[in-house]
Amino acid sequence: MSIETEQKTPALPRLVVVISGRGRNLQAIIQAIDAGELNAEIALVISNRADAPGMQIARLAGLNCVCIEASGFRHREDFDRALAARISAARPDWVVLAGFMRILSQAFVERFDGKLVNIHPSLLPRYKGLNTHERALSNGDTRHGASVHFVTPDLDDGPLIRQGSIAVAADDTPETLAERVMAEVEQRLYPAALAELVAGRVFFKDGVVWRDQRLQEHCPHDHYDRLALS
Ligand code: GRF
Repeated sequence: MSIETEQKTPALPRLVVVISGRGRNLQAIIQAIDAGELNAEIALVISNRADAPGMQIARLAGLNCVCIEASGFRHREDFDRALAARISAARPDWVVLAGFMRILSQAFVERFDGKLVNIHPSLLPRYKGLNTHERALSNGDTRHGASVHFVTPDLDDGPLIRQGSIAVAADDTPETLAERVMAEVEQRLYPAALAELVAGRVFFKDGVVWRDQRLQEHCPHDHYDRLALS
């Protein structure tokens, strides 16, 4: 047997995707992997709601999935510890929050420091928290969009990885704007950001985002340029 035939295929980066709801971002990530646009595998999908439609998407895709409901725990920290233990057991390279509607404790965030990412439906730092589409319309914003960011202990405050936006239409309602941001921005943005992350072209270190301007793999960290966004 030649040396070439003995070489193993490198393991794919492992994603654990954490959801609460419809799972349209999860669906986009699955499709990007299937299309060869995202070089990763989904090791596990976790939902904190058994009735989350996203769980059905995960099951139909044949993915490992598990539900951990907060009602089974007395304290928020206990739920976070159980969630963290289940995530760790799946040996993730990246923990992908995709519509996970709970605020995570500092201990949880620090445990996955540098590999915990989230998508938020606004052009951060504008509109942290809920009802972002309604708030953008009330303020008369001409553009609205979404942000993928590293997660830090403060809500929707971590350094940005990528943003995307669309023009707000004169007849947009919060519902139509939310649908359009999802379909035209979020479902493209998250897979694209994850593709950069798993390729090692963007990473979080010492509280800031670094981006390899030379687009070379395996170059030492001090050759990376600091990303202006962070
Ligand atoms: C998305 O708008 C995401 O930005 C926000 O929650 C929503 C989740 O939607 N964090 P889905 O579950 O991916 O359909």
